[in-house]
Amino acid sequence: MLATRQPLLRRFWYPVLPASSLEEGPQPFTLLGQRLVIWRQDDGQYAALEDRCAHRSAALSKGWVDKGAIVCPYHGWAYDLKGVCLRIPQRPDSGPSKQPVVKSFACSERYGYVWVALDDPLAPIPDWAEEGDPAYRRIDQFYEPWNCASFRLMENSFDNAHIHFVHRNTFGDINDPNPPQPTIERDELSFVARSDVPVFNTEEQKRNLRDDSPVTIRHIAATWYLPFLRRLHIRYPSGLEHIIITAATPVADDACQVVQFCFRNDTEADAPAANIIAFDRRVTAEDKEVLEATDHDVPMDMNSGIEKHMPSDQPGLLMRRMLLELLARHGETEQTRHYHHAA
Ligand code: FES
Ligand SMILES: [Fe+2]
Repeated sequence: MLATRQPLLRRFWYPVLPASSLEEGPQPFTLLGQRLVIWRQDDGQYAALEDRCAHRSAALSKGWVDKGAIVCPYHGWAYDLKGVCLRIPQRPDSGPSKQPVVKSFACSERYGYVWVALDDPLAPIPDWAEEGDPAYRRIDQFYEPWNCASFRLMENSFDNAHIHFVHRNTFGDINDPNPPQPTIERDELSFVARSDVPVFNTEEQKRNLRDDSPVTIRHIAATWYLPFLRRLHIRYPSGLEHIIITAATPVADDACQVVQFCFRNDTEADAPAANIIAFDRRVTAEDKEVLEATDHDVPMDMNSGIEKHMPSDQPGLLMRRMLLELLARHGETEQTRHYHHAA
């Protein structure tokens, strides 16, 4: 599947930028091949427009915000958040354009990030109750580009078999390669996979988890939000909860922006955020190394024979099935260079 060629994928919310980055002015971001300029208005509203001035195509992201409008750096045309041209400095009497002249997109702030949907979203941004709950803290972990398909990272999150190979140097046990099968409950646009996974408790993790046992169990409830968002809720035997939110925001067919933050029900005195990030950093780097060496055009058709499967691939196979079903419901077929789907 080539993500930029599936219009359906434009109908979801994706986190694109840390909201704090807009304090420095308008920022560019490319979402599913669409170049955007994102900015924050004086009244606190967030805006996303096509990053192309209607006059001579200059990048609005190189401009600035003035009186609630984004100003093009080339000749100063100013646009509001709907793309209406409010002012043309060379024609002071012209008044605002009757219609928007630059395309605008839905834009909103949640969890400290700016989210964008290119077309009418099929589902809201998920509500996670930990946000704002004093029993939990939110730790921003990663915001970085990866050279792999968004789907590869999503599938990896639900693939318990990779833990014991990819993460053999951090918490996996290469001598125990066959992971427990999760039980999966599906909805229309999401599923939850539950499993209990025994893992090594490294010295570093003993401190982060405040648990001295050599082996611990991760009670996992992993939620996939179609297409490229997941919530990994890990509960340890001590009652500690480590809830990782990861988005693989699609930039291009072969590139995504990884946005990751976590919630914890302990305190900075129990485990400093820097140590928690350091462990997750090492684990994530192990995934990145492998995933960047995969084919970005993931075949969704499980019977194509292009990729073979094993029983532990069940969550990833369900992800393919749900994506194909949704495409079909919207009259779309999978776009790929591997094979041709009859419409
Ligand atoms: S190109 Fe933007 S005002 Fe001329
Ligand atoms: Fe992993």
